[in-house]
Amino acid sequence: MSHDLPASDLPEGTVTGVDGFAVGNNGDYFAVGRRCRHLRADLAGGSIDDDGCLVCPWHHAKYDVTTGVMVRGPQGTFARIPGLEATIKAFTKAVPLKRGTVTVDGDQLHVS
Ligand code: FES
Repeated sequence: MSHDLPASDLPEGTVTGVDGFAVGNNGDYFAVGRRCRHLRADLAGGSIDDDGCLVCPWHHAKYDVTTGVMVRGPQGTFARIPGLEATIKAFTKAVPLKRGTVTVDGDQLHVS
Protein backbone atom coordinates (compact mmCIF):
# COMPACT_ATOMS: atom_id res chain seq x y z
CA MET A 1 0.00 0.00 0.00
CA SER A 2 1.34 3.42 -0.94
CA HIS A 3 0.46 6.84 0.41
CA ASP A 4 1.22 10.26 -0.95
CA LEU A 5 2.06 13.56 0.58
CA PRO A 6 3.24 16.78 -1.02
CA ALA A 7 7.02 17.21 -0.78
CA SER A 8 6.35 20.76 0.41
CA ASP A 9 4.88 19.22 3.59
CA LEU A 10 8.27 17.71 4.44
CA PRO A 11 11.05 20.29 4.26
CA GLU A 12 14.53 19.27 5.35
CA GLY A 13 14.79 18.71 9.09
CA THR A 14 11.15 17.72 9.60
CA VAL A 15 9.31 14.51 10.46
CA THR A 16 5.66 13.61 10.03
CA GLY A 17 3.44 10.54 10.28
CA VAL A 18 2.08 8.55 7.35
CA ASP A 19 0.11 5.53 8.53
CA GLY A 20 2.55 3.26 10.36
CA PHE A 21 5.62 5.23 9.34
CA ALA A 22 7.53 8.20 10.69
CA VAL A 23 8.53 9.90 7.46
CA GLY A 24 11.31 12.46 7.51
CA ASN A 25 13.75 14.48 5.52
CA ASN A 26 17.35 14.58 6.78
CA GLY A 27 18.62 15.60 3.37
CA ASP A 28 17.28 12.31 2.10
CA TYR A 29 13.73 11.17 2.60
CA PHE A 30 13.22 8.22 4.92
CA ALA A 31 10.40 6.18 6.41
CA VAL A 32 10.72 4.03 9.54
CA GLY A 33 8.24 2.35 11.86
CA ARG A 34 6.84 4.99 14.13
CA ARG A 35 6.78 3.28 17.55
CA CYS A 36 9.89 3.81 19.67
CA ARG A 37 11.35 0.56 20.94
CA HIS A 38 11.61 1.99 24.44
CA LEU A 39 8.05 2.93 25.52
CA ARG A 40 6.36 3.20 22.12
CA ALA A 41 6.35 6.97 21.74
CA ASP A 42 5.23 8.11 18.31
CA LEU A 43 8.43 8.82 16.40
CA ALA A 44 6.43 10.91 13.92
CA GLY A 45 6.58 13.57 16.65
CA GLY A 46 10.35 13.28 16.88
CA SER A 47 13.11 15.46 15.49
CA ILE A 48 16.23 15.11 13.38
CA ASP A 49 19.61 15.82 14.92
CA ASP A 50 22.82 17.08 13.33
CA ASP A 51 23.84 13.52 12.42
CA GLY A 52 20.61 12.96 10.50
CA CYS A 53 19.35 10.58 13.17
CA LEU A 54 15.72 10.46 14.28
CA VAL A 55 15.33 11.48 17.93
CA CYS A 56 12.43 10.15 20.00
CA PRO A 57 10.20 12.92 21.37
CA TRP A 58 9.87 11.35 24.82
CA HIS A 59 13.31 10.36 26.15
CA HIS A 60 15.48 11.27 23.19
CA ALA A 61 16.76 7.89 22.11
CA LYS A 62 18.32 8.20 18.65
CA TYR A 63 17.83 5.97 15.63
CA ASP A 64 19.90 5.52 12.50
CA VAL A 65 17.11 5.78 9.94
CA THR A 66 19.03 3.80 7.32
CA THR A 67 19.24 0.71 9.53
CA GLY A 68 16.40 1.20 12.04
CA VAL A 69 18.88 0.58 14.85
CA MET A 70 18.92 2.64 18.05
CA VAL A 71 22.32 4.34 18.33
CA ARG A 72 21.70 6.18 21.63
CA GLY A 73 19.51 4.90 24.41
CA PRO A 74 16.81 6.77 26.32
CA GLN A 75 18.13 9.82 28.16
CA GLY A 76 17.32 11.40 31.50
CA THR A 77 16.60 9.07 34.38
CA PHE A 78 16.47 6.11 31.98
CA ALA A 79 20.12 6.68 31.08
CA ARG A 80 21.00 5.85 34.70
CA ILE A 81 19.38 2.42 34.70
CA PRO A 82 22.23 -0.11 34.47
CA GLY A 83 22.11 -2.17 31.30
CA LEU A 84 19.00 -0.53 29.84
CA GLU A 85 20.74 1.21 26.94
CA ALA A 86 22.77 -1.85 25.99
CA THR A 87 19.69 -4.06 26.17
CA ILE A 88 17.49 -1.86 24.00
CA LYS A 89 20.28 -1.23 21.48
CA ALA A 90 20.90 -4.95 21.19
CA PHE A 91 17.18 -5.54 20.77
CA THR A 92 16.95 -3.03 17.90
CA LYS A 93 19.97 -4.64 16.25
CA ALA A 94 18.08 -7.91 16.26
CA VAL A 95 14.70 -6.32 15.49
CA PRO A 96 15.28 -2.90 13.92
CA LEU A 97 12.53 -0.44 13.14
CA LYS A 98 10.94 -1.44 9.86
CA ARG A 99 11.99 0.74 6.95
CA GLY A 100 9.69 1.98 4.26
CA THR A 101 10.44 3.42 0.87
CA VAL A 102 9.93 7.04 -0.11
CA THR A 103 9.92 7.79 -3.81
CA VAL A 104 9.70 11.23 -5.35
CA ASP A 105 7.33 11.85 -8.24
CA GLY A 106 7.37 15.50 -9.18
CA ASP A 107 6.21 17.36 -6.09
CA GLN A 108 4.64 14.27 -4.54
CA LEU A 109 6.22 11.75 -2.18
CA HIS A 110 5.02 8.17 -2.21
CA VAL A 111 5.50 6.22 1.00
CA SER A 112 5.25 2.46 0.92
S1 FES B 1 9.82 6.20 24.38
FE1 FES B 1 11.39 6.69 22.98
S2 FES B 1 13.11 7.00 24.25
FE2 FES B 1 11.52 6.52 25.63
